[in-house]
Amino acid sequence: MHRVCISSTGLYVPPHVISNAELVDTFNQFADLENAKYVSEIAAGTKAPIPHSSVEFIEKASGIQQRYVVEKSGVLDPTRMRPRLAARPDSELSLMAEISVAAARDALTRADKKPGEVDGVICAAANMQRAYPAMAVEIQAALGTAGFGFDMNVACSSATFGIEMAVNAVKCGSARAVLVVSPEITSPHLAWKDRDCHFIFGDVCTAILVERLEGAVAGAFEVLGTQLVTKFSNNIRNNAGFMSRSEDRNPDDRDQLFYQEGRKVFKDVCPMAAEHMGRHLASLDLGPCDVRRFWLHQANLAMNQLIGRKLLGRDATADEAPTILNEFANTASAGSIIAFHRHHADLITGEIGVLCSFGAGYSIGSAVLRRS
Ligand code: COA
Repeated sequence: MHRVCISSTGLYVPPHVISNAELVDTFNQFADLENAKYVSEIAAGTKAPIPHSSVEFIEKASGIQQRYVVEKSGVLDPTRMRPRLAARPDSELSLMAEISVAAARDALTRADKKPGEVDGVICAAANMQRAYPAMAVEIQAALGTAGFGFDMNVACSSATFGIEMAVNAVKCGSARAVLVVSPEITSPHLAWKDRDCHFIFGDVCTAILVERLEGAVAGAFEVLGTQLVTKFSNNIRNNAGFMSRSEDRNPDDRDQLFYQEGRKVFKDVCPMAAEHMGRHLASLDLGPCDVRRFWLHQANLAMNQLIGRKLLGRDATADEAPTILNEFANTASAGSIIAFHRHHADLITGEIGVLCSFGAGYSIGSAVLRRS
């Protein structure tokens, strides 16, 4: 059995930013257009008007101030409200592979590793661009890594579940190093016309290099343990799939995009995540007080504050549980990895951190790390 570490991470940030003000302006234009279209039904009381969204609500309810997207003009067109993505010929690198390669190369450079020294690519994300061939195999070819590649989807916990797969492969010797890439292109599955959730997601890609501790760069984070749990819930769902066509579904049907019961998710997931991390730490003879930093899933600021309080019995400081969702919004499984990427350099040798994701499934995944 080998000792295993996360030796580096990489980040791809899309080129376009949408501020809350731009987002709300588009939504409100859309609402006015719809309300004008159904003016008689609304007057007759047979249809409810669509109320306006507001920047104040979004910032207070979520902590999100902006989001990055791969394409902006289609999202901000009130007669469209979804990104404009051009179909690419099969001979071209697909969009998910392109951003994965960018994030993976960033991680490889930081770890001073060549693609040929990597034996596996796991593409772990909440949405895959196509059914097959696996995105990971295309990414493997574009990078020139050895061995194997496969895709996995556990929604917002995809990256941490991917880390567990990578850690096990390196620990038992079936791979020298594994890249876990999370190309989270969330904008095509977001219901931009739904006021309750139109502000939630942003696009990004992260990459994590998992390898043997022996021979890794100085300051790598040893993985002391990983722990996963799932519990079925319908409170976060997206029913789009390969059977939709045979069910004669319209791609615009509300259940063919992301939908959730946000309040219920909040209530269910906060105690689950806090208990999960507490249990995981206890299994390693550690407690929350031994943890220098929590890199938490980034869905909602109040949610992370509540989880911090449940774990520590007091408010976690911004230094203990850093926030990146103000800049990135909810980037599905990439959120906790961005938090790690941006906020790990100041940990000193021996200090402990916990990566933890939580989301649809429900699914929760954690990794306890120690700076070497
Ligand atoms: N602008 C203005 N008002 C809005 C609004 C918007 N964009 N969206 C909703 N509102 C209104 C609602 O109509 C409601 O009004 P009412 O009280 O008159 O009925 C009120 O604001 C509160 O709405 P609610 O949906 O209960 O807000 P909330 O405080 O629960 O916040 C979320 C919504 C989504 C931010 C929050 O529930 C959340 O983040 N939950 C966790 C979600 C999560 O982690 N999901 C995982 C995804 S992977």
